[in-house]
Amino acid sequence: MIPTINTVVAIDGPAASGKSTVARGVARALNWLYLDSGALYRGVTWQALENGIRISAGPALVGMVAELQIAFAIADGAIRFSLNDMPLGIEIRAPRVDKHVSAVAATPGVRQGVTRWLRKAAELGPLVAEGRDIGTVVFPDARHKFFLDASPDERARRRYDELAERAEDVSPDEVGRALRRRDTLDSERDADPLRAAPGAVAVDTTGLTIDEVVQAIVARIREQ
Ligand code: DC
Repeated sequence: MIPTINTVVAIDGPAASGKSTVARGVARALNWLYLDSGALYRGVTWQALENGIRISAGPALVGMVAELQIAFAIADGAIRFSLNDMPLGIEIRAPRVDKHVSAVAATPGVRQGVTRWLRKAAELGPLVAEGRDIGTVVFPDARHKFFLDASPDERARRRYDELAERAEDVSPDEVGRALRRRDTLDSERDADPLRAAPGAVAVDTTGLTIDEVVQAIVARIREQ
């Protein structure tokens, strides 16, 4: 594994804590690459649904991951992925993927495969990576680690706004319920549960603008 102590900023946190937008902003400010690790769990989920693999069928899922060919590309400062030559696009954000992705991400063999891919992506250059286990498992030696959170109401509101913008037909109640379900699955699973890494700087983004959070993180990195 390449040493990533000075070349990775790890940003973890629950769904809709603001970490994707913030991580993208921090990457832009540092002129580093942006890496969305959740996109890979979503890509695996999408592929399993397309292939008709039952999500609860662990060995079939892990076998599929072992066979998948991953390729990286850089676009707009972000690392993009193709699985078996299929670029991962907006389809990985669909509600059917939302519904199953936490179960896929709870499968240890899937996590091992995705972690390997993420470490490979770090060979492309210095990066800001966001997810659930970036600071704890994927890049535990990273010097700069942050844990973002926001109140459950604020996170539900942000996720609802995001879905409404994409014209997805969901109610605020449904969004709140789905978010709570994913929070529970992501933080109570046995394999690499969502946790703040030891030494991670905690940032509560409730009531803060994206710019405020990005500036606070960049300032902290520069002084660390
Ligand atoms: O960040 P997101 O909502 O796109 O993540 C999708 C799912 O993947 C989510 O249920 C948690 C899981 N995930 C994970 O377990 N580990 C990561 N490093 C990133 C995401």
